[in-house]
Amino acid sequence: MISCILKTQSRFFCAFLLSLVVSFGALAQEGASEQADVATKGVDPGATAGAEASTGDPAVISAGESLFKNNCAVCHSAGSDVIVGPGLQGVTERRSEAWLLKWVKNSQALIQSGDADAVAIYNEFNKQAMPSFAFSDDEIKSILAYISSGQGVTSAPAAGPEGVTAGESVGTEAVGAASAIGGYLDIVLVVLIIVLIVLVVTLLLITSLLKNYLNKNRTLNEYDTEVVNQRFDFSKVYKSKAVRALVLLIFVVVLVDLSIDKVMGIGIQQGYQPKQPIAFSHKLHAGDHQIDCNYCHSTVYKSRSASIPSANICMNCHSQIKTESAEIQKIYKAIERNEPIQWVRIHNLPDLAYFNHSQHTKVGGIECQTCHGPIQEMEVVYQYSPLTMGWCIDCHRETPLNTEGNEYYDKLVELHDASSKGAFTVASNGGTECSKCHY
Ligand code: HEC
Ligand code: HEC
Ligand code: HEC
Ligand code: HEC
Ligand code: HEC
Ligand code: HEC
Repeated sequence: MISCILKTQSRFFCAFLLSLVVSFGALAQEGASEQADVATKGVDPGATAGAEASTGDPAVISAGESLFKNNCAVCHSAGSDVIVGPGLQGVTERRSEAWLLKWVKNSQALIQSGDADAVAIYNEFNKQAMPSFAFSDDEIKSILAYISSGQGVTSAPAAGPEGVTAGESVGTEAVGAASAIGGYLDIVLVVLIIVLIVLVVTLLLITSLLKNYLNKNRTLNEYDTEVVNQRFDFSKVYKSKAVRALVLLIFVVVLVDLSIDKVMGIGIQQGYQPKQPIAFSHKLHAGDHQIDCNYCHSTVYKSRSASIPSANICMNCHSQIKTESAEIQKIYKAIERNEPIQWVRIHNLPDLAYFNHSQHTKVGGIECQTCHGPIQEMEVVYQYSPLTMGWCIDCHRETPLNTEGNEYYDKLVELHDASSKGAFTVASNGGTECSKCHY
């Protein structure tokens, strides 16, 4: 009788221990990769800090140097060589500081304002748009300090970006969020471990108490005494049916979980990530080098669809950059043969649905990332959102219209506010009517 209780008890105990070990392993691994993630993304924002306006300060110049190398050196030398854009030696004498600040932040805006110098240099360089940079004035001034210090003049032109410090201004926010989540997980993990240790210790105490009690109990027969005093035997754990059943169970659950994910995904292309003919990386271009989405997808604010860039746009840079790379050679081949690069299309709504990019990006002011996810971190693009009708409509129900500075909406807002207290959402403006999305 007692032996039976003890046996089952120890079985459960073993099973419990095993599941602990299994879940521990998984958790620990998750934690570790989480940390590794943060570590690889953990760029050093220190380079931009401390960039005060006083020129000539070596700290400012070196902050400027790292910003320049990571963001400008792909297209500019600090000397007089032309790479993609002009050599920047002496630029602080050619142009005023105010002009340079405006130019680096948004050269297109300056050109469109009709500034004569801006238009002239733009035309001189065949209207190649320089990307915009979301730098603070101090950061730009530190770059200018570096350029006018002359330190970069002797260094080789087109020096590749160094290390992972590129994309600081974009990266730090994301990294901050990632490490905040990482830190939170760490706390949960530690608490879990402590709770589990306490549990194990309590259980061990209980068994030893029971053992003592039973040993003192003289009514036990020989067999029972043997069972009570038996040592913990690992081969028994391994042979135990309960343990084997548990392992099998875990295996089956994981398998079922995976296949449910697959089955549910039929018809919905969320996560679709085809291999592309050229190993083009958004992380490298849009993330590390901060090339504006609009530089390549140039119709996304103007028209219904976002264009995929032609090989000529790649050539703006790759006629100079990484020319020896096998992947870049594929661009040259496509141009030689006068054939477009055969990019595999990822996002694709059925013909019955009407979607318009400019309506959402320009008029609605919605970020690309809201619908496409963290594209600037993707080596290979995948479909982030489900693109189902429910997804479109949910957002239309929740999102207030971007009516500010849009005269078209003024009257409508007045009418809405007079008749209803709720927010003036896309839906309240008819954004869930069938005909808006179906012809
Ligand atoms: C993708 C290539 C590219 C990158 C990256 C780039 N530029 Fe440019 N830049 C150009 C081109 C091309 C021009 C010439 C004007 C034009 O076509 O828009 C230019 C022009 C300029 C000019 C005007 C030069 C003059 O003589 O008036 C300045 C200043 C400048 N860039 C600064 C920078 C700084 C600072 C950075 C880094 C923060 C940077 N650029 C990054 C391509 C680039
Ligand atoms: C240097 C050029 C370049 C820049 C900059 C760039 N892209 Fe792309 N993008 C491409 C090319 C080329 C493709 C097609 C190959 C691929 O899917 O990777 C593409 C594909 C895409 C796709 C998938 C299109 C499909 O087939 O459905 C999306 C979405 C996208 N880009 C969004 C963005 C966003 C958002 C940004 C800015 C954060 C951006 N891109 C910046 C060149 C660029
Ligand atoms: C505004 C400049 C710019 C444009 C436009 C551009 N690239 Fe790049 N590309 C770069 C830079 C900078 C690198 C990184 C070079 C390095 O690592 O030294 C790069 C790297 C690459 C690489 C990796 C090469 C290797 O072997 O490491 C590929 C592939 C590539 N680009 C493809 C493309 C394609 C395809 C397009 C057109 C859709 C394109 N690029 C447009 C600037 C550009
Ligand atoms: C409101 C959601 C939404 C936003 C915001 C959005 N897109 Fe899209 N994007 C889509 C949908 C939906 C498709 C599929 C369109 C289709 O198949 O007709 C798509 C397709 C694309 C494609 C493939 C080519 C095409 O037009 O079908 C590219 C490239 C792209 N988006 C880039 C961008 C960029 C760059 C931005 C930001 C400037 C952006 N998108 C903002 C929803 C969005
Ligand atoms: C992230 C939120 C979001 C998602 C997702 C979204 N939309 Fe929208 N949509 C908006 C907003 C905001 C507007 C209003 C823009 C404006 O006119 O100010 C809008 C407007 C529209 C309009 C014009 C409505 C009108 O009243 O004129 C159409 C059509 C439309 N969306 C279609 C779609 C389709 C189709 C999808 C799914 C493939 C989709 N949208 C997904 C936010 C979204
Ligand atoms: C905001 C945009 C939007 C509105 C409003 C909308 N739809 Fe859709 N609808 C879509 C999109 C996008 C798809 C394609 C989704 C997919 O392929 O999963 C779709 C698909 C469909 C389909 C085809 C389903 C299938 O499985 O092929 C039908 C039928 C349909 N919608 C009917 C309607 C009706 C009826 C209304 C009005 C009550 C309506 N839709 C309103 C965006 C919209």
